[in-house]
Amino acid sequence: MRHERQIELLSRLKDRDPLTAWPLAPHSMRRRASAYVDPVRFEAERNILFRKLPQLVALSSECREPGAHLVADLGGVPALIVRQKDGSLKGFVNACRHRGAPIASADGPPKPRLSCPYHGWVYELDGTLHARPYAEDAFADMPKTNCPLKPIFVAEGYGLIFAQAENGEALTADSALAGAESELKDYGLEDFVLVETRENVWDFNWKLFLDTFTESYHIRTLHKNSIAATYLPEVSICDAFGPHPRMIGLLKTVFEEIKKPETDWRFLPHTTTQYLFMPSGLITYQRDHIELWRITPLSVDRTRVRTTLYAPQAPETDKQRAYWKKNMDLLIGVTGTEDFPLVTQIHNGLKSGAMPELIYGRNEPALIHLHRAIDAALVAGGYAVEQS
Ligand code: FES
Ligand SMILES: [Fe+2]
Repeated sequence: MRHERQIELLSRLKDRDPLTAWPLAPHSMRRRASAYVDPVRFEAERNILFRKLPQLVALSSECREPGAHLVADLGGVPALIVRQKDGSLKGFVNACRHRGAPIASADGPPKPRLSCPYHGWVYELDGTLHARPYAEDAFADMPKTNCPLKPIFVAEGYGLIFAQAENGEALTADSALAGAESELKDYGLEDFVLVETRENVWDFNWKLFLDTFTESYHIRTLHKNSIAATYLPEVSICDAFGPHPRMIGLLKTVFEEIKKPETDWRFLPHTTTQYLFMPSGLITYQRDHIELWRITPLSVDRTRVRTTLYAPQAPETDKQRAYWKKNMDLLIGVTGTEDFPLVTQIHNGLKSGAMPELIYGRNEPALIHLHRAIDAALVAGGYAVEQS
């Protein structure tokens, strides 16, 4: 984030009472409980939001060398993304053209070709079929040129990889970022390296995951025994890039910073700066590292959450490894023992049908923005959103 932008954001805090809840959305919003538990709506969300919109898949550094590959789930479509010899990326449905086996079951290191684990068909990195070992004659009436892996859409830019299963002819990193590229390019994400990924499956609707990252209002109470001591709970800075809210949580130290002369101001070290990418997850810039949270909706009430920590350089010493492990433990510890168990209970309450609706307050503007954006995308995709 450029210094001028940091100064502009910090200026918004000047002369503000840190205990006053602001900025406020123009109106609060009611949301029917069914939005979180209706299986028909869930299928529409998966088909429209997760298949037909760009999904943030990874940082580029996770798939740098020719022949390296990533796997992803794009609204139920299994995807395989492969680094080509010329440095570009191609994406495919992760299903062999023989009888549909996944070509890869996990992200993988560089290989000269890709081979199917079921009967051994071999594909070039560009998806064309290279060989059907031991059975070329059996398939002589089915030319190899008719059997390439089915393509999907991939775009890369600013150190980020996006993929889209359907309707992605115009996909670019810029279109996916919807204006957030103006800030993201300054982080130099292409140079960050993966330190660790942890994965968990939680019994709640995918939107409840995003909701908990979309306001700082809960920090004072839910996180009173962990992070509340360092954050300003009632103050956050919310903006949006197209459908994607940016939520900046503030450390209490920020009010010391604005006492300095403006030319010395540094904003980012006093923040947790989160870019939520509707619908697939969020990137957090956290002082000395990047976190990526990727979600896969498995069913209306089940969500896979992958949390990855990236550092500016690969850790080389035990001390550095211990430092990043401690960061990751804190992250997973706070969310996994404070946020997500509570969110699971919220989901169960909504599922009971006893709770007709939820309220998003004016002090939760990013939450309101996110849900308006989700609804707008569903309507654009042909789904009639039930209004509260
Ligand atoms: S399913 Fe891939 S080789 Fe048979
Ligand atoms: Fe939280």
